[in-house]
Amino acid sequence: MASTREWFETVEEARRRAKRRLPRSVYLALAAGSEKGVTLRDNVAAFSELRFAPPRVADLPARRELATSVLGQEISLPVIASPTGVQAVHPDGEVGVARGTAEAGTAMGLSSFASMPVEDVAAVNPKLFYQIYWSGDKDKILSRNERAAVAGAKALIVTLDWSFSNGRDWGSPLIPEKLDLRTLLRLAPEGVTRPAWVLDWLRRGGLPGLTVPNMADPGGPAPTFFGAYGEWMQTAPPTWADIAWLREQWHGPLLIKGVMRPDDARRAVDAGATAVSVSNHGGNNLDGTPAAIRALPAIAGAVGGQIEVLLDGGVRRGGDVVKALALGARAVMIGRAYLWGLAAGGPAGVRNVFDVLRGGIDSALLALGRPSVHDLVPEDVIVPDGFACDLGK
Ligand SMILES: Cc1cc2nc3c(=O)[nH]c(=O)nc-3n(C[C@H](O)[C@H](O)[C@H](O)COP(=O)(O)O)c2cc1C
Repeated sequence: MASTREWFETVEEARRRAKRRLPRSVYLALAAGSEKGVTLRDNVAAFSELRFAPPRVADLPARRELATSVLGQEISLPVIASPTGVQAVHPDGEVGVARGTAEAGTAMGLSSFASMPVEDVAAVNPKLFYQIYWSGDKDKILSRNERAAVAGAKALIVTLDWSFSNGRDWGSPLIPEKLDLRTLLRLAPEGVTRPAWVLDWLRRGGLPGLTVPNMADPGGPAPTFFGAYGEWMQTAPPTWADIAWLREQWHGPLLIKGVMRPDDARRAVDAGATAVSVSNHGGNNLDGTPAAIRALPAIAGAVGGQIEVLLDGGVRRGGDVVKALALGARAVMIGRAYLWGLAAGGPAGVRNVFDVLRGGIDSALLALGRPSVHDLVPEDVIVPDGFACDLGK
């Protein structure tokens, strides 16, 4: 269906609309990758290096099955929302993502650095996976997880790939500590060129608060984004024994996000994980590491029979999802794609993105002659020599 004012037909069109609507700083905070952006670009480009097997022309399945399950939740297509903090993208924030994903019949990850309380988000989409970083002492970690469990989170995601790389060659966007008068004046020129965005916020009673309510101490105020980031920076990174401890404490499925090596994937299995996501944080961590899709085949080969293997990074089309599934992923997570949808059209824009991917998955299954997402096999994709990365066997 061709794009209209209300509907966009590709994720790329959602990105263009997001760029037109968002102040430059907010747009760059979404689009950015670390340093030179090598990994960010490779995440997307690597999908183009993969080709589909030539299409079949007869005996094609009249209906295709896209439904599957992830971390114990039934989902209508093999795509879920990856956790991201959506500070300042849209006044509906993570609740808007919850609405869009619930309408699409799928699950969402909620970042502990999100701008809205887990209780409000879980009320809108009960298929909620709560995501943490290793931040603060173990008592703090437990009390935040407990709060999420009480709110109804169905699974825990622990994201382990973050090495505090800083510096982006095209310039890091200004993320203010809070929006006081001085900062507002400094940002005013950006707002003047994006009046629709400013009006949207003002109609909801004010500009973004830039706090992270899920990192609050029990009964305490929500810390600022940078306050919480500071706590995380000062926390020693976890050991595998810490992850095994976390596994014992959390009584539900556990996903370890950010695994790029088969040996780490095996350790995740040993630590009791239910799932891993093959991921490089969307190119926001150590720049120069390979695209996530390059690491998928070796990891799926190492642990795919034992735990669920997901992938995130660079997924922009239904065809990308099908390629990842053919190479061993159970489902994929998307980040920027739904953020652009949210910026472009609020909750309906999030749903639009999932519908675009659904259409692309269906069409690829039809061409490949596969009646279900569960029938995809590596032979459905042509992998060029030297494509895959299996370091860390
Ligand atoms: C603006 C932004 C914020 C993010 N915040 C988080 C986060 O809080 N926790 C997390 O585990 N990953 C976070 N990520 C990474 C995503 O969950 C996901 O790994 C990545 O976006 C996938 O790549 P893609 O954007 O190409 O789909 C963030 C990504 C972006 C772009």
